[in-house]
Amino acid sequence: MERTLVLLKPDCVQRRLMGGVISRFEDKGLNIIGMKMLRVTPELAKRHYAEHVQKNWYPGLEAFITSAPIVAMAVEGPEAIRVVREMVGATNGLKATAGTIRGDFSSSRQMNLVHASDGPESAERELAIFFDENDICEYTPMMTPALRADDE
Ligand code: CDP
Ligand code: MG
Repeated sequence: MERTLVLLKPDCVQRRLMGGVISRFEDKGLNIIGMKMLRVTPELAKRHYAEHVQKNWYPGLEAFITSAPIVAMAVEGPEAIRVVREMVGATNGLKATAGTIRGDFSSSRQMNLVHASDGPESAERELAIFFDENDICEYTPMMTPALRADDE
């Protein structure tokens, strides 16, 4: 089992796409074990996007990510980090494959609706930014036997 961080970005909230995007993760069989709505501050943006702070496009990203509330989710499942990244699709919505969230709903490189951790280290680092261990509500989904075989 892996845990990954998903953010529904301000464009997802503003466009009323939260429910549709959350449904995709639920429909896949992933387990949402943490969820909160919050407003990202410039300080939080710099922490979350630490690897991008020096890029020339960072000021635009910070203005965007602080422009309206976001929803942060802790998502759990087998190989969840890779599976969620693949469901989200390529960064630029114009290039993302149809069938991915960005490919289906985004026509922008910046306003691409969803953030997803890109590996185990980023998942651990990013989950700790948005969630205390107390915020995580782990449970056993009753439908697991209908999702995969016991040895999977
Ligand atoms: O989100 P992802 O990991 O696919 O892309 P990234 O390269 O880590 O960039 C983080 C976020 O910065 C993207 O999701 C875009 O919202 C934004 N971005 C941007 O505003 N302008 C760019 N040229 C590249 C990314
Ligand atoms: Mg990234």
